[in-house]
Amino acid sequence: MDPLPLDRLVALAREMLVYSYAPYSRFSVGAALEADTGEIFTGCNVENASYGLTICAEQNAVAAAVSRGRRRFRRLVVVTGGQRAVAPCGRCRQVLAEFGTDMVVYGVANGERMHWKLKDLIPDHFGRELLDMGPASGDGAGAAESGSR
Ligand code: THU
Repeated sequence: MDPLPLDRLVALAREMLVYSYAPYSRFSVGAALEADTGEIFTGCNVENASYGLTICAEQNAVAAAVSRGRRRFRRLVVVTGGQRAVAPCGRCRQVLAEFGTDMVVYGVANGERMHWKLKDLIPDHFGRELLDMGPASGDGAGAAESGSR
């Protein structure tokens, strides 16, 4: 599958703003995550009356992708309203880095577009290799790729 034009990926992330559930912050976020297969997985932020339980748009996009067996990603677009582009929060950076730091992250707002390498957003990140785990040890890590259960 050919990579989508960036503007198309931005449009898919922007479509998610409609679904954003952000009654507390009124800050809507949409995300579109491109897997190495070319498939796109989207998410929006989902807030909660117990504020700390809020789930960011990026995290929902990652969950959607991983739930479909995708664990390698090329690009992530994060769309917000307002003028200033937004980079993923610290928790989202860590969640994304679990699946590799080679992806490019785009922050898109009405008045600004920015991009970063994920590895620059989270240098020296904490990862599974620091747990002394092998590449596919005992957590189902290989199941999606091999098709086994
Ligand atoms: N939010 C995201 O969805 N992604 C981020 O990277 C930053 C913050 C959401 C969480 C909350 O619903 C709202 O933005 C304000 O923090």
